[in-house]
Amino acid sequence: MTAPIITTRADVARSLADALLGEGTDRWRHSAGVAARASDLALRLGLDHDLLVSAAWLHDIGYAAPLVDTGFHPIDGARHLTSEGWPARVAGLVAYHSGARFVAEIRGLSAELAEFPDEQTVVSDALTYADQTVGPRGQQVDPEARYTEMLHRHGPCSFNARVDPVRRPHLRAIAARIDHLLAQ
Ligand SMILES: [Fe+2]
Repeated sequence: MTAPIITTRADVARSLADALLGEGTDRWRHSAGVAARASDLALRLGLDHDLLVSAAWLHDIGYAAPLVDTGFHPIDGARHLTSEGWPARVAGLVAYHSGARFVAEIRGLSAELAEFPDEQTVVSDALTYADQTVGPRGQQVDPEARYTEMLHRHGPCSFNARVDPVRRPHLRAIAARIDHLLAQ
């Protein structure tokens, strides 16, 4: 008798990321790297593995051309997930990852972002930590180096650069909290 194949939510999330981002593309490789990092963090910190790894696979799907609406990928991704019946926690984790609220505010999208729950937990910290420690092609990177590379890539007049004075301390605080937990 063959064992039943159990499909987890994270498996479904990966399939969706494969379809929307294109398996093997840089964006997909980044998402795969974030998912692997998230898996490691979930196991080491005793977090909800399926939830965190699902959000990691899905956090950047809002970049996929068919999903672009507001042009702000955390919101566009979260809206798609909600329309497809994904749990509010998954959509909320995607919507708020990596300090998205600061960028949403400067882009005039705070009301749109507020459609989603902002859980501000160790799980949301871990998603941001995973995203900030994986580079654009899936390689593991130092978060400060990744952040500096991101600002350079987006340019000095970008929304990301304009919110840097508030977003960078937010990301550093998250990194410090996760590093502290990992060290225990
Ligand atoms: Fe990302």
